Amino acid sequence: MSTTDSTAHTDLPTTADSDNRAALDNRRHRGIQTFMKRKTHMGKKAQAGLQPEFARFFVQADDARQALDITGIADLRALFAKPDLPLTLEIGFGMGATLVQMAQAEPTHNFVGIEVHEAGLGNCAYLAGQAGLTNLKLIAGDAITLLKQLPAAHIDTLQLYFPDPWPKKRHHKRRFVQPERMAIVSRALKPNGYFHAATDWAQYAEDMLIVLDHMPEFCNVAGQGQFLPRPDFRPLTKFEQRGINEGRAIFDVLYQKLAD
Ligand SMILES: C[S@@+](CC[C@H](N)C(=O)[O-])C[C@H]1O[C@@H](n2cnc3c(N)ncnc32)[C@H](O)[C@@H]1O
Repeated sequence: MSTTDSTAHTDLPTTADSDNRAALDNRRHRGIQTFMKRKTHMGKKAQAGLQPEFARFFVQADDARQALDITGIADLRALFAKPDLPLTLEIGFGMGATLVQMAQAEPTHNFVGIEVHEAGLGNCAYLAGQAGLTNLKLIAGDAITLLKQLPAAHIDTLQLYFPDPWPKKRHHKRRFVQPERMAIVSRALKPNGYFHAATDWAQYAEDMLIVLDHMPEFCNVAGQGQFLPRPDFRPLTKFEQRGINEGRAIFDVLYQKLAD
């Protein structure tokens, strides 16, 4: 059939149609992110932390970091001299002070933090440098994209402290803790691995219990329908302090992934 026959296969999708559809799907998907990229003031530490002196903490080169491009990051364990140590991934570490504290407190664990907030990435790298850490690496990008790229059963502990609460009902699809995203988390966790979250938004906390208590692959360490008493090992975060200052209660949830 001639390619100039304009009446041919008019109801069949062309390559261009499906490319357009894929691009549209991608755009739609990209539109539903758990974060809102914000431009904030870069403090002195944050600026310093983005200088070559602290580049050893970043998994990506500068241009990829600025573009939040995580292409090719497919193995977090391989980032460390001792890849077999227990691995913790913290999603959305903010300014990073508590992630650095935790990595300092557990030198026999490896830690990876992922954030999209440039000032936070710089600040965290600076603090890690001051602390002389060798067990912490930082990634600039979307945690969901990263988790999908990792092998199954890769991470021992995934921590999510004070995630954006997205309180309006029409924004709930942006919340990190919802069934589709938690299935992605579960795949990346090792059997017997942990998912630990904390929030100062009571309704989000209740919804976390509903989502996670209904997932058969997870066991609520505190018991079905129960929150975990605040654990000592979790340092006070900036957003936790803000919640307390504004009179909100703090809720922790801890789930263990069942071994089949
Ligand atoms: C409310 S702040 C909490 C920061 C810090 N954990 C604390 O408690 O102070 C949530 C952070 O999560 C980050 N974030 C949200 N979704 C993310 C994602 N999909 N990947 C990486 N970071 C994300 C945001 O950029 C933001 O800095």
